[in-house]
Amino acid sequence: MKLADNKATLSFSNGAPSVELPVYQGTVGPDVIDIRKLYGQSGMFTYDPGFLSTAACQSAITYIDGDKGELLYRGYPIEQLANNCNFLETCYLLLNGELPNAQEKAAFEARVNQHTMVHDQMQYFLRGFRRDAHPMAVLTGLVGALSAFYHDSTDVHNAEHREIAAIRLIAKMPTLVAMAYKYGVGQPFMYPQNDLSYAGNFMRMMFGNPCEEYKVNPVVERALDRIFILHADHEQNASTSTVRLCGSSGTNPFAAISAGVACLWGPAHGGANEACLNMLEHIQANGGIAKVGEFMEQVKDKSSGVKLMGFGHRVYKNYDPRAKLMQETCNEILAELGLENDPLFALAKKLEKIALEDDYFVQRKLYPNVDFYSGIVQRAIGIPVNLFTGIFALARTVGWIAQLNEQMGDPEYKIGRPRQLFTGAATRNVK
Ligand SMILES: CC(C)(COP(=O)(O)OP(=O)(O)OC[C@H]1O[C@@H](n2cnc3c(N)ncnc32)[C@H](O)[C@@H]1OP(=O)(O)O)[C@@H](O)C(=O)NCCC(=O)NCCS
Repeated sequence: MKLADNKATLSFSNGAPSVELPVYQGTVGPDVIDIRKLYGQSGMFTYDPGFLSTAACQSAITYIDGDKGELLYRGYPIEQLANNCNFLETCYLLLNGELPNAQEKAAFEARVNQHTMVHDQMQYFLRGFRRDAHPMAVLTGLVGALSAFYHDSTDVHNAEHREIAAIRLIAKMPTLVAMAYKYGVGQPFMYPQNDLSYAGNFMRMMFGNPCEEYKVNPVVERALDRIFILHADHEQNASTSTVRLCGSSGTNPFAAISAGVACLWGPAHGGANEACLNMLEHIQANGGIAKVGEFMEQVKDKSSGVKLMGFGHRVYKNYDPRAKLMQETCNEILAELGLENDPLFALAKKLEKIALEDDYFVQRKLYPNVDFYSGIVQRAIGIPVNLFTGIFALARTVGWIAQLNEQMGDPEYKIGRPRQLFTGAATRNVK
């Protein structure tokens, strides 16, 4: 890490000796104050629930400038990647730091294709679930179960083992997500077909059946691939931090990734796209565009507990660049499928317009996030609402494993162990 020119001095009003703390500089973004020795020097901890001001690691993978609304994977703007690269190239970039040349790309694709099948025993594990189980419950179980199949060959301190775990995860996630879907609808599982693209293969496993040849629609294929690219990584968000913390104990990487899947499920995180579509359907069922004003009044009334799902972000205080790309894809896919007059899309655009002009949203810098439009795209493609977060998990797996592998290869990494401000009873005796 690069030391900045200045240092921080922490002084106390009770006359305790002040503490000098080093400051480090990143390539871009805020400097960080190194407080690692603070406890040793002052006997005090810092307090930052929700990590509002705390960098828990150093990372060279993804950078977000929340004020500008900028997202970079390994330095490349998300818009350029979404327009010029496919998902597997993006995976290669996130894992290796550089975009692949033609040879590297072909070799990477071939390697991923070698691992698309899951152990046949996985289907018996899956069959233990109720048919109506939420796909995220199923996926948490299935991804965790992979650790039982690869435990002996996965030494997290071995870089080659970490790499193969990454390839296996990227390759198997579409198969597992499609299996979870097929199980729920009672259709036979479809084996992967490796001459198709990553997104095309996933579409066939989802929507194909053994009785007919499945034809991949290239517009839908591209839309799905774009959804994957846009969700591939997002620096130290809740699920990624969960994966890092879980993995910091040296646990099996598949187990660590399943912790990420579990975290992603929540409506404040990956579950927001499902919550957003449910919200749009609810407004539509209760009067649609005519009732938008009434709904917005509820959102602004804190006592109602209603939020405008798909709006707001911890880091973006400007338009989420992924939301713009997603809106573009939304237009393309609805036109391709003859759904230009989709009432939910019209409703979403109306909600966005009102929110962007309303003082409540303007003052709090609340803008649409990626989930605002991704639900409409997925619904148009035919993905059921309760599988939206599963699609997000599929795409984010590369980010999780790239971040986990970066951590395990970092000589400065330690097991994660936050401190606390204790407010419970002090020592007392049982009478
Ligand atoms: C994403 C989210 C959890 C970020 O939370 P955060 O960084 O902790 O921000 P806060 O919850 O403190 O929000 C700041 C203010 O905006 C309000 N706010 C934030 N998101 C809002 C939303 N979607 N609708 C209405 N009000 C919202 C908060 O009530 C708070 O108001 P206050 O200052 O008057 O108390 C939050 O914006 C949210 O719940 N959004 C909806 C869910 C969603 O789309 N999540 C997907 C994220 S990719």
